[in-house]
Amino acid sequence: MYAVSTTLAFFLLCAQLTFAQKNITVVDTDPSIHYSGGAGDATICKVDASGNFISGQSGCYSVPDKCTDSVAMGQSKDSGASFTFKGSAIYINSLLFSRSPLYTVTLDGTAVDVDGFRTESETCETLFSRTGLDPTVEHTVSLAIKGFSPSGTPDPNGVFAFSLINFIYTIDDSAASSNTSSNTPTNTSRAPATSNTNTTTNDTKSSSGTSLDSITGLRSINLGSLTVVILMLVFGADLL
Ligand SMILES: *[C@@H]1O[C@H](CO)[C@@H](O)[C@H](O)[C@H]1NC(C)=O
Ligand SMILES: *[C@@H]1O[C@H](CO)[C@@H](O)[C@H](O)[C@H]1NC(C)=O
Ligand SMILES: *[C@@H]1O[C@H](CO)[C@@H](O)[C@H](O)[C@H]1NC(C)=O
Ligand SMILES: *[C@@H]1O[C@H](CO)[C@@H](O)[C@H](O)[C@H]1NC(C)=O
Ligand SMILES: *[C@@H]1O[C@H](CO)[C@@H](O)[C@H](O)[C@H]1NC(C)=O
Repeated sequence: MYAVSTTLAFFLLCAQLTFAQKNITVVDTDPSIHYSGGAGDATICKVDASGNFISGQSGCYSVPDKCTDSVAMGQSKDSGASFTFKGSAIYINSLLFSRSPLYTVTLDGTAVDVDGFRTESETCETLFSRTGLDPTVEHTVSLAIKGFSPSGTPDPNGVFAFSLINFIYTIDDSAASSNTSSNTPTNTSRAPATSNTNTTTNDTKSSSGTSLDSITGLRSINLGSLTVVILMLVFGADLL
């Protein structure tokens, strides 16, 4: 019995960790991002329906596959961006191409070098990601240029191509995770069943209407509880 409840507790924990997380996207124009070295929101070149540049545009950045509507760029070596968040994971997305630099990403004081060079034309990619962070404390991440990419050709005019599309960080969905204690699942899982029977009594339509209602009811059940209930059934049957 001890083993069974330990297993249940473990699965409950997993279910909560899996289903209670949410990504927050902070786009390049968000005021919570601090830029340096003249980096900031840039103009993306307009193209016509067949993908050709519309003439008369200067100083725009080419994003041929339209992978982003907005991007921050910087041309000097001290171009950079920093951002503070409270979450369990961080992703940095950038526009990467043959002139992208060698970046230094510093997360909570630890720096790593990440090469942004790509041979293909401009693509939106995750330049850096880190998961497994402590979600209860504030983290600071910064993106800076270390130098020209060792894989690319240094620009003769010393122009760099710093780029930031967005920061994405992962939070615990507070409503689902922070207040779920181990004895609530039995309670919550029973509730939708009761309300479902009531809905069906007053349904004059065909059985398809009824089943739609039950599906909606099921969707609203916390998935973690559902897992536990199913596991209980399985383990219960095993014990008999
Ligand atoms: C958050 O976004 C990253 C990168 O796009 C993705 O790998 C991850 O699965 C997402 N996490 C959640 C909880 O949606
Ligand atoms: C969680 O519970 C505490 C104390 O019972 C309460 O103050 C808090 O508002 C609750 N948080 C959520 C997200 O329900
Ligand atoms: C769930 O628990 C709360 C508080 O213990 C109680 O008020 C409520 O009636 C319970 N709901 C069900 C469906 O058992
Ligand atoms: C069920 O529905 C009827 C009529 O719609 C309503 O009077 C009754 O209070 C409902 N019962 C519950 C338990 O919600
Ligand atoms: C079902 O119940 C609702 C509200 O309780 C009522 O407005 C509706 O007329 C009822 N439908 C039928 C077919 O009885």
